[in-house]
Amino acid sequence: MCGIIGVTGRADALEMLLDGLDRLEYRGYDSAGVALSTEAGTWRARSAGSRSLADLRKLAEAAPPAAAGIGHTRWATHGHPTEANAHPHLDCTGSIALVHNGIVENAAAIATRLVAGGHRLTSETDSEVLVHLVEAHLGELLGDPTGSGAAGTGSSRGVPRGSEPDTAHGPAPGSSVLGEAVRRALVEVRGSFAVVVAWSGDPTRLVATRRVSPLVLGTAAGGAVMVASDVPALLGRAERFWTLDDGQVAELVPGGIVVTDVAGAPAQARPLEVAWNLEQARKGGFPDFMSKEIAEQPQAVADTLAGRLTADGTVGLDEIRVSPDELRQVDKVVLVACGSSYHAALVAKFAIEHWARVPVDVDIASEFRYRDPILDPRTLVVGVSQSGETVDTLQAVRHGRDLGARTLVVCNVVDSSMAREADGVLYTRAGPEIGVAATKTHLAQLAALQVLALHLAQVRGRLDTERAGRLLAGLADLPSLVARAVDRAGAVAEVAQRYRSVRDVFFIGRHVGYPVAMEGALKLKEISYVRAEAYPAGELKHGPIALIEPDALVVAVATRTPLWEKLLANVEEVRSRGAQVVLVANDGDEETARLAQAVLWVPRCEALLSPLVDVVPLQQFAYAVARANGRDVDRPRNLAKTVTVE
Ligand code: M6R
Repeated sequence: MCGIIGVTGRADALEMLLDGLDRLEYRGYDSAGVALSTEAGTWRARSAGSRSLADLRKLAEAAPPAAAGIGHTRWATHGHPTEANAHPHLDCTGSIALVHNGIVENAAAIATRLVAGGHRLTSETDSEVLVHLVEAHLGELLGDPTGSGAAGTGSSRGVPRGSEPDTAHGPAPGSSVLGEAVRRALVEVRGSFAVVVAWSGDPTRLVATRRVSPLVLGTAAGGAVMVASDVPALLGRAERFWTLDDGQVAELVPGGIVVTDVAGAPAQARPLEVAWNLEQARKGGFPDFMSKEIAEQPQAVADTLAGRLTADGTVGLDEIRVSPDELRQVDKVVLVACGSSYHAALVAKFAIEHWARVPVDVDIASEFRYRDPILDPRTLVVGVSQSGETVDTLQAVRHGRDLGARTLVVCNVVDSSMAREADGVLYTRAGPEIGVAATKTHLAQLAALQVLALHLAQVRGRLDTERAGRLLAGLADLPSLVARAVDRAGAVAEVAQRYRSVRDVFFIGRHVGYPVAMEGALKLKEISYVRAEAYPAGELKHGPIALIEPDALVVAVATRTPLWEKLLANVEEVRSRGAQVVLVANDGDEETARLAQAVLWVPRCEALLSPLVDVVPLQQFAYAVARANGRDVDRPRNLAKTVTVE
């Protein structure tokens, strides 16, 4: 949550910041701001509200020329989404600017101390204390007797560019006084952060650091050096990419990056291979990212399967860093995830238990470590996360590791925090997903988890060659089946049009159809703001059926999964109480269709693989209802793509 960006060594720094913020908007859109460092001082513009980026562009017309600056797009945690709370935040002297993504847990205590020391804090955010802490340490390093920089001595102003600090307190060789001030400041901070700091006293230098929250560095010919929360912001600008380990501090100057560890000793950033390209991060003729990403699903599934289904009928997963021997030792799998990733995990439970015969728990990541789970070295904890940064899932994986379990993550972002911390990683290959609603990454997760389930089954000797061959062939068919489902967007939109004014929708399913129903309900509620709840269809009669009254809308996943007949009986129960019924049904299945006012047709496939196909019309239904109601499908209210707070 929150997107941050910084650039130095580019004459068009401001344009790159604004363009980068456009691309980072999916991380938050409550407000936006930029700050530019020049010899003459720090220039800042901020704006809040749903048009914050457009408004910021207007304000930026008055900006001075600058080769370095920082920018931020906010998802509000502490403090209302107002301009006063928008980043960048400035210190008391107005010369230091800072953008932050994360949470400062001890912000209140630090703020009390800073205010007592004479600092003036002007926002409700936790982030603002950071810039004042940097100011205080910079003041100390530069010999300001107040140690705050706020007492009017102008400690941070008028310092010659690149000036060296007093050697008794100075930074490590290659690092600057600003780098040292940042290091000292962050030692005092509890919580998670990615931070970029600019200072007009050294106007072409930016200092960036991270703990838990993600940060990517980039360099390009001509000396441009940049940093951002996510790779998409730098695509087409950076030629080479790096990441920082927790606590490392990077100083970006035109033509180079100096990295130190938290104590100031020289360190190295880690090179990052980036396979994504700029086109993938653009709408490419689609009206929004969500429709583009739905259309890309066949490719996302094909890419995720590529090279993993071998001609000899086995699954090739040598890459995952957890050996077949280790997988043979596993006596329990625990899947931890949030949101759409959690729904993918629920489907995977069916596949792993059925094919590999290993017991599987699926936990909502934010609850997992608080329920005192029983784990040991024979447990495999699998984190499922598109971003690989969701803090709840990251902490759940860490908890697994701390209790001695083996850990694996299924994620879409190479070298994400989870990918780095887990014992093993299985990447989905969906390309960058910009729409806040997960679509193609969800399908890619389903595909990757099916592959993992088959791999587990094979290494544990649970699948004979003939059955494995059939399942692998079924997997290989998925991209074309998904493509057939994707192609029916028009027909789904017609059904959605009929129900565009609906306010309550019940999604029901059984077996793997239940997680599909959950995902359909989540899609609808998050982008159209229609109340949508999912129930296991057999559970309706234990309470929820009391909510069914004439004309209530029930959407049922009624494809030919093992409990299809029982599901139809549950559909009859709501029909007899006057509900309108929309069914997801297999092509040509008139026996099912006769129960419905409208049918969303999908091609049929192996039951355990069917969620990849069956969920597509539910994504399209949600999309069409949202559009018919004028919703911004890429930027649903109150949401952010990557949730890096608990
Ligand atoms: O990046 P992650 O997969 O860990 O994110 C988990 C959820 O926040 C995410 O799936 C969310 O529910 C989706 N954006 C919903 O469409």
